[in-house]
Amino acid sequence: MNRADAPADLAPQPLDHATALPARFYFEPSMVAADRRLIFDRSWQLLAHVCQLQNPGDHVIGDFAGLPVIAVRGADGEIRVFHNVCRHRAGPIAQCDGLAAKSLRCRYHGWTYALDGTLRSAPEMGTAPDFDVSQVKLPQLAVRVWQGMVFAAVDEANAPSFEAFVKGIDERLGADRHLEQYGHHHRVGYDVACNWKVYVDNYLEGYHVPHIHPGLNKLLDYRSYITDTAEWYSYQFSPLESGDGLYGAGDALYYWMWPNTMLNILPGRLQTNRVIPKGVDRCRVEFDFYYSLDESEEAAQRRLNDLSFSDEVQFEDLTICEDVQRGLSSGSYEPGRLNPLRENALHHFHELLRGVYRNAGGA
Ligand code: FES
Repeated sequence: MNRADAPADLAPQPLDHATALPARFYFEPSMVAADRRLIFDRSWQLLAHVCQLQNPGDHVIGDFAGLPVIAVRGADGEIRVFHNVCRHRAGPIAQCDGLAAKSLRCRYHGWTYALDGTLRSAPEMGTAPDFDVSQVKLPQLAVRVWQGMVFAAVDEANAPSFEAFVKGIDERLGADRHLEQYGHHHRVGYDVACNWKVYVDNYLEGYHVPHIHPGLNKLLDYRSYITDTAEWYSYQFSPLESGDGLYGAGDALYYWMWPNTMLNILPGRLQTNRVIPKGVDRCRVEFDFYYSLDESEEAAQRRLNDLSFSDEVQFEDLTICEDVQRGLSSGSYEPGRLNPLRENALHHFHELLRGVYRNAGGA
């Protein structure tokens, strides 16, 4: 249901006459809290891959748009995700990823939690009347493990159903990729001076590739570049020009999943991006690389080449994203027309955003 008091520029727009989202959603300080409340808390966010959580006590920390979270494999083998915020006075339960922990101990005053999130001990609290450690528990998120990836939702009741969220992707990926068996995890993070939506916008169109990414443009077949949209995700597909041997022959599949997850799937390689808001005009993009388990020297060399090439492409994207943020914040910009052929996925993202902000009466 749309709110009657929503601004007119949030009305749905047909693709062939669509304009970009108004600039205010990219720079007004109130958007940080609005996006957390209206979008991130009500979505499925990617946190880790199962190769990082193989044994009881393995844990991975993350940032869900300002909510610190931790994924832990329990003694019973189950993966759970908790708020990474101590129930005593808000210290972190874990400050970094770790392996085989027997329990999780807050470093501030030493309150110690079992792997299922219940408080096990609290130093010197025996003198506190009516304090019962067994009644203290870390708040828990809903979790789904899909294609080897761990997703979690803060407010599952108001998030899309997970089935709707991924509908159709399994069929497109096929049965032979076995992303859940990938390993060789490697992470690179980039701090970018732009709103998180600028980074997503840029990811969602190949329109800029011939202009901003000369190297990538040689690798992809831009003419056959296809972009398609589903309810909660869009994907871009390109056959690879296999000449340089970086990835071999096959398809490049680039999935964006509402609101901030990207899966870049090439032969033998899964690379995920998570775009984490860090303020209205900054975000951190975490790139996690996972590869099919191949111990040959050739595969190791390919992985090294992949990382360095990815860094080059990323630098090109970050520079233009920061320039665009300055343009959006300048007071000059009125929403421009979108290219219906090359910016349909960006339009799809903006329609989802317009719907959220419209239902909130303008955010
Ligand atoms: Fe965690 Fe005090 S804040 S033990």
